[in-house]
Amino acid sequence: MCGIVGFTGRRDAAPILLDGLSKLEYRGYDSAGVAVGGQSGIQMVKTSGVIKNLKEKTHDGMDLPGHSGIGHTRWATHGAPTDLNAHPHMSNNEKFAIVHNGIIENYAVLREELKEKGFIFKSETDTEVIVHLLDFYYTGDFKTTVMKTVARLEGSYALGVICADFPGHLFAVREAGPLILGVGVDEHYFASDVTALISHTKNVIYLEDGQFAQLTPDGISLYDSTGAAIEAPVTRVVWDIEAAEKGGYEHFMLKEIMEQPSALKATIEPRIKQGEIVLDEFSLSEEDLQNINKIIITACGSAYYAGCQGKYAIEELCRIPVEIDLASELRYRNPLVDDKTLLIVVSQSGETADTIAAMKECKDRGAKILAIVNVVGSTISKLADHVIYTWAGPEIAVATTKGYSTQVAVLDLFAVYLAKRLGRIDDARYQELMDCIRQFPALVQRAIDLNPNLMQLAEQYHNKENVFFIGRYNDYAACLEGSLKLKEISYIHSEAYAAGELKHGTIALIEEGRLVIALCCYERLFDKMMSNIKEVKARGACVLGVALEGNREIFKEADDVIAVPRTEPIFNALAEIIPLQLFSYYVAKENGCDIDKPKNLAKSVTVE
Ligand code: G6P
Repeated sequence: MCGIVGFTGRRDAAPILLDGLSKLEYRGYDSAGVAVGGQSGIQMVKTSGVIKNLKEKTHDGMDLPGHSGIGHTRWATHGAPTDLNAHPHMSNNEKFAIVHNGIIENYAVLREELKEKGFIFKSETDTEVIVHLLDFYYTGDFKTTVMKTVARLEGSYALGVICADFPGHLFAVREAGPLILGVGVDEHYFASDVTALISHTKNVIYLEDGQFAQLTPDGISLYDSTGAAIEAPVTRVVWDIEAAEKGGYEHFMLKEIMEQPSALKATIEPRIKQGEIVLDEFSLSEEDLQNINKIIITACGSAYYAGCQGKYAIEELCRIPVEIDLASELRYRNPLVDDKTLLIVVSQSGETADTIAAMKECKDRGAKILAIVNVVGSTISKLADHVIYTWAGPEIAVATTKGYSTQVAVLDLFAVYLAKRLGRIDDARYQELMDCIRQFPALVQRAIDLNPNLMQLAEQYHNKENVFFIGRYNDYAACLEGSLKLKEISYIHSEAYAAGELKHGTIALIEEGRLVIALCCYERLFDKMMSNIKEVKARGACVLGVALEGNREIFKEADDVIAVPRTEPIFNALAEIIPLQLFSYYVAKENGCDIDKPKNLAKSVTVE
């Protein structure tokens, strides 16, 4: 989704802004722009397409002299991705320029009001109303003008503002959109994502909703929504710049797939201490815990599919009802939630708009909220009662891999932890399950090593137009994620089906040469899967079987086989997804797709 950067200091701003925008490219965007405040007022350049165009148009920023400015990558919502709709937007008198992430819900009313006052709109965006409001309210006092403008806005926004009369001054405003301030020496920054900051500074301040900040080279002043000065802690980011670079891999996605053993190690190891799972982050009292009569897991995209695996593990081990619901559905379905509900929110970015809304909906009804999040300081982490971080490090490829697998690992870990706390498993079983989880990094490494043939399989199958993933129980959870991975990066039409559902419609689509990827790792249901495989083979399908290492039966029916290392059956989904991620990667590569930035997708969906 949209990205924001801002810089003020003694150096030239434009190259720093362009570099910051490049770091945000992974979030997905369709146009970009920068505005720099210099001796001769504000200069702005924007363009549809990629950052490279912007760099060319500005000669790597050299055409825009000045020591402070703002930049933006836009992911179109209101208005097509054109040069005019790209941010920044400038006021008619060229005094103000702004960048904005989010949606101004009352923009239509404001637009009419401002048009009547004579303001001329150049774009179709909701954002442009903000810059004309700034112009309208301006009396010479930058801070008051920003406050008066913001008071008129409804919706979500992270804003960066510059004013020609105040060179070197930036305003950053946050209301339901991520915005982080970077604290440097004689220079300060803001960005919607820490990855744009960490090459300059690891000292950051996470702005909270309703807060705003004034940045100059000499310092940062923070204010609450009434304009009163406030203090906020400076936090040190633990991510390294190397973690946000490709490190010799052709794509971030491949790097992130290969990083999964170390990401899992970082996620799991600190939580298993002296033979116990220690989740200090989950501080629900014994009384509250015993009162919980239902768990709801909610999320979007792959995080939702991680939640599907979590449901199987928690329900199986804890014998407590677990509902899983898409956040975009949960938020509008008047859910049956009260103070006996534990809501588990899963999100890599911690900024997904629907997930945040679903969470607020349940919080208002009294639910206890546990968030499983990767990004420290994100909105979801702040709203939750308890947060378990997945220590996956920055994930740059739009299609999640290590984000997903660390979410699955945390959910599995939580299932065992909760089962023990609720007294649903004995010590021996607890130890056994904990040992399995401790082995996750090695298990995932083995899942990578076991399948050197994935590139050849991708060569063989890359030109299929339709693919079906089938599986039962937690194989089905892995099907959902496997199928999403394939479609989002290779654009091949792919669907995941619970294998037992095949007969109820989908089988009509099975014909000669159709590729069916059959996940058969849950061995208790292996025979059922073999029957499903026979059914699709009988109709001419080509079957790529996914089965546990050492399983010979699968070779009798499948045309090709992917092997998955053995673990406790309820945890199969973790190892199973790894070769499927790699298979999708190689298929997308065969098809010449833009793997790290698939078309139309955004890394973090911060609008509804
Ligand atoms: C987008 C991303 C997905 C991600 C989903 C949820 O669609 O492209 O990879 O799974 O959002 O994001 P979250 O940050 O909440 O996990």
